[in-house]
Amino acid sequence: MSAGAVYRRRTSLSSLPAVSAYSSPGFLLSFEGSEGCGKSTQIRLLKERLENAGRKVEVLREPGGTEIGESIRHLLQHAKEGHSMTPETELLLFAASRAQIVREKIRPLVESGVFVILDRFLDSTTVYQGHARGLPLDAVNAINRFAIGGTLPQLTLLLDLDVQTAWQRIHATGRELDRMESQPPEFFEKVRQGYLSLAKAEPERIQIIDANATPEVVHEAVWKQVAARLA
Ligand SMILES: Nc1ncnc2c1ncn2[C@@H]1O[C@H](COP(=O)(O)OP(=O)(O)O)[C@@H](O)[C@H]1O
Ligand SMILES: [Mg+2]
Repeated sequence: MSAGAVYRRRTSLSSLPAVSAYSSPGFLLSFEGSEGCGKSTQIRLLKERLENAGRKVEVLREPGGTEIGESIRHLLQHAKEGHSMTPETELLLFAASRAQIVREKIRPLVESGVFVILDRFLDSTTVYQGHARGLPLDAVNAINRFAIGGTLPQLTLLLDLDVQTAWQRIHATGRELDRMESQPPEFFEKVRQGYLSLAKAEPERIQIIDANATPEVVHEAVWKQVAARLA
């Protein structure tokens, strides 16, 4: 069957009333993990494999091309330069951008049968603004829940990597580091531990992948998880 045929079949299925994101024929997957753990690399490999298997795939990264999200990003970046933004404001702006992409992009794509891959999603906020920056987790969770309005990934793959190896990978690229990448190792240790505690709390949704292996070996572990959910 051609990719087009698969897509058409899924599209016609999606015209049935959707009970929830879980009953629609698309799929929502998020990748999480610290800088340098291999998210971009794995997303590229997974997209290729899914497309070869005839799936329509869309990769989104917040603000994901929504006009409102782009304006918010501009605000976040501008404020970064001025160091004038409070962590609370930062959290709410990320949440606002997410609320927009969920309704404008993610839901319609998943409902039309697309396999949507998110390069980071709500767990990044929980871990970076909550665990690492120290904002109260109950507030972070409540804001996150309100922003996504029930649109949780069906599967989240946490690429887990020790801080030193991640640091080496980032430095090996030889490019200039961004603000997040320049944080001290203690910050990344908090990020890593934050992610691991989330995975422990939500073992059904969040699967830990050992990212300390070659891209091909990590990809096979990723594929095993994805194939199990699609079966
Ligand atoms: N499994 C791996 N082993 C060694 N290097 C890797 C691996 N996966 C990715 N890299 C390299 O590490 C760097 C960071 O990877 P990237 O996929 O951009 O991570 P992220 O998107 O999570 O920041 C890149 O230079 C990439 O080529
Ligand atoms: Mg990346």
